Amino acid sequence: MNFKHQVKILSVLLIFISIASVNAQQNLAQQAYAIFEQSCLICHGENGAYRESLIIEHPALINDGKVVPGDPSGSVFYQRLIETDVTKRMPQGQPPLDPAAIETIRQWILAGAPDWDAVPRPETDFITIDTMLETIENHVNSLSMRDKSFARYFTLTHLYNAGETTETLNAYRRALSKLINSLSWGREIVKPQPIDVGETVFYIDLRDFEWDVRNDAWTQIEQVYPYQMTFDAPTQTNLFVRTLALGHQPAGIYHTFNRAAHWDGRNQEGEPVASGVYCYTLTAGDFSATRKMLIQK
Ligand code: HEC
Repeated sequence: MNFKHQVKILSVLLIFISIASVNAQQNLAQQAYAIFEQSCLICHGENGAYRESLIIEHPALINDGKVVPGDPSGSVFYQRLIETDVTKRMPQGQPPLDPAAIETIRQWILAGAPDWDAVPRPETDFITIDTMLETIENHVNSLSMRDKSFARYFTLTHLYNAGETTETLNAYRRALSKLINSLSWGREIVKPQPIDVGETVFYIDLRDFEWDVRNDAWTQIEQVYPYQMTFDAPTQTNLFVRTLALGHQPAGIYHTFNRAAHWDGRNQEGEPVASGVYCYTLTAGDFSATRKMLIQK
């Protein structure tokens, strides 16, 4: 084997080893984060009661010197886990973390405290609009009749498709939650719930934010929302509750059941619809107008 060849093999090996250790580091970061999620974020997460004392976000932990990469014993973050003074030990007011969890956090700091958000996202295919709508449709269909009318969805799919990093997407996910909760009339903070694997489609229930029909806040939000979404014809057909076709009618005024448009409050499948705000569109020749109506039972 000549020298050149050896160098090649060596460099291939080196690349392989460095990829393997990057993966191991990211695993460690994920494991550490899983522990924070379980034991710390309730107080030190973005919505935690004690986020003023400490916010467990990667850049903040490092910048504020709570975690000193490579130096567990020099990190107050680690010290607080093994603290013998019970009033100072974390998680506060609870039994200490189990030794395996403490060791994972020690190893994580020792490995340079890699960022759990920096994990390259798994290679996934472009999420088409059809797939996105299908996800929403399946979710709507999994809800009870009553819950359906309060379901609304937000999507970050376009950002995901544009190749944004996990870190950026997480920032958008947090921003979405903050935005929605800042407009909430409810008492509790309720996070939008991701319903797809890529966490790009989020479900909310209007009642959690008291945006339901009593004050019709959702309609107000919609009215100031500048990005209208129009669906193509087949999608729209799927979203339709019911179509009433009267066929050709000579000009005139119609009141009777058999000649006027009369809706019995049932969808295309004949099931009664839930309470909520519905849109109806009147179409005649070139004329088309959409209005809202409230169904309350
Ligand atoms: C029940 C709420 C609660 C939980 C759960 C909790 N903490 Fe705390 N933490 C506090 C409070 C309150 C303080 C401020 C008082 C103090 O410093 O002891 C604090 C302070 C800290 C500090 C010191 C910050 C500084 O600036 O010195 C660290 C580090 C810390 N917590 C880490 C953790 C870690 C890691 C976990 C999870 C294993 C955790 N905490 C779980 C309530 C909590």
